[in-house]
Amino acid sequence: MRKNQSSLSAAGIAIARVVESEKSTDERLIYDPYARQLVPVWMVHIMGFFIRSGYAELRGPGVNGYLMARERYIDDVLQDFLKAGLQQLVILGAGYDSRAHRFDFPQQMKIFEVDHPATQTEKLEKVQKIFGKFPANIRYVPVDFNTQTLSECLLSAGYDPDLVTLLIWQGVTMYLTAEAVDSTLAFVLQNSAPGSAIVFDYLYRALLDGVQKQSEVSNMRRYRLMTGEGLTFGIPEGTVESFLEARGFRQVFDVGVDDLKAAYFTGKNASRKIVGGYGIVVGKV
Ligand SMILES: C[S@@+](CC[C@H](N)C(=O)[O-])C[C@H]1O[C@@H](n2cnc3c(N)ncnc32)[C@H](O)[C@@H]1O
Repeated sequence: MRKNQSSLSAAGIAIARVVESEKSTDERLIYDPYARQLVPVWMVHIMGFFIRSGYAELRGPGVNGYLMARERYIDDVLQDFLKAGLQQLVILGAGYDSRAHRFDFPQQMKIFEVDHPATQTEKLEKVQKIFGKFPANIRYVPVDFNTQTLSECLLSAGYDPDLVTLLIWQGVTMYLTAEAVDSTLAFVLQNSAPGSAIVFDYLYRALLDGVQKQSEVSNMRRYRLMTGEGLTFGIPEGTVESFLEARGFRQVFDVGVDDLKAAYFTGKNASRKIVGGYGIVVGKV
């Protein structure tokens, strides 16, 4: 990411949440009442139009389906952890994620939003506008994963390594270096209580290497000079379990797009497309 340019991909995902939230309750996969206010109005108009008109689907068939299924799956993971007594939540590369606001958390629960300073600065302006002040239970921690470690930033912001923690890392690993991914995973393993977990999605390496072609990946490559967001990291399909186990995680649970489709694309969504090439994994400490 560029030093002073907030993430365009984060805004694009928030706008996909805006459009999904406009659908009827029996059709939408997720509901995000804050997404619209978190991104600039002109972007909601232009990018929202592309999604509603079907143009985005034409350019990247099934991408919207994947983004919304991913959002829903991670919502469900968070809900399960909350039911089981989660004590601390960290949203890594938070972008315009509004989970810190749209879930009911125990009052004392610590929530941290970690993001690149350029994106976080923009989000903070919006959060202040929406809520009038910064919610007391959320700490905002600026970090560049590629040049700083979580140990440097999160511990000094009040993160408690003795609490059962869920770390959500949605739509971020593909933009990082392998070293940054390893360093973040090592932080989680060394600084969270047993029962803690990280959930993240990742790109299959074959798409990154160009062995397998997919339109949205080619588009992201084509526009990377404008966005400053290049794709840099992937994990070979079918190897994430050994990848995480080698880094000390246990009870690794990986879902692919077929699992997401079976779980969520029923009823009005039965014929909704979902693009392949991505996995979502939960690894426990
Ligand atoms: C595709 S967006 C996903 C945003 C959010 N997690 C979501 O799903 O809506 C990627 C996010 O990763 C963050 N990011 C990318 N590179 C980063 C880096 N080197 N350090 C910290 N954050 C980074 C961006 O600021 C952005 O918020």
